[in-house]
Amino acid sequence: MSTTRPVTIHPSILNADFLRIGAEVERIAGADAVHVDVMDNHFVPNLTFGATMVEQIARQGTLPVDAHLMIENADREAPAYAEAGAASVTFHLEAAAAPIRLARELHRLGTRVGVALRPATPVEPLLDILGEFDMVLVMTVEPGFGGQSFLEGMLPKIQRVRQAAASADVDLSVQVDGGVSRETIARAAEAGADCFVAGSAVYRADDAAAEITALRDLAAAHRH
Ligand code: DX5
Ligand code: ZN
Repeated sequence: MSTTRPVTIHPSILNADFLRIGAEVERIAGADAVHVDVMDNHFVPNLTFGATMVEQIARQGTLPVDAHLMIENADREAPAYAEAGAASVTFHLEAAAAPIRLARELHRLGTRVGVALRPATPVEPLLDILGEFDMVLVMTVEPGFGGQSFLEGMLPKIQRVRQAAASADVDLSVQVDGGVSRETIARAAEAGADCFVAGSAVYRADDAAAEITALRDLAAAHRH
């Protein structure tokens, strides 16, 4: 059942004009969600937004908010993003002391729950607890910055997550984030990803709406 998930495109506003966030979200209104990269300058060497920004973008109502938390102390910090109105909250496995307890707490608060893996983090520790999550985010760059190159070496990890979800009969979304573009999206889709974060590919395009459509069509053509 997991292989039938529709393709979804989540542009990342990390690459948007921060002085015009509301308009920048409107620019991607044809996407499926807006990906908000929360960075604390500790888990990653960059600092962006917090729960207040998530709350305001959620209240704007243009798109559901997909909050990607690149922050330490996820157990303590993540619930505030569910309370802020994020449709999904993704925390990093490396930053959570008790990922199952945290996932259940976030579900109780009414949000979808994702768990993210840095490139050097293996997926195997998750395989027996996939049913706790709605989404696994396989990072295809080292988290922290937009505009980096897609790590081809992550394709087998995407395949392993997809296969594990299928064999456990878990309806899981597999998200990829980092270096997703017209050049790389087909391979990620073939490997089993269904949800694609694209920052610079969308925000550096002259026509963001056309870019979203092109990415969605390419991914859909390579899903199987
Ligand atoms: C990186 C972020 C990404 C980033 C992607 O740490 O998690 O969401 O914005 O940007 P691109 O698509 O330019 O790699
Ligand atoms: Zn991200």
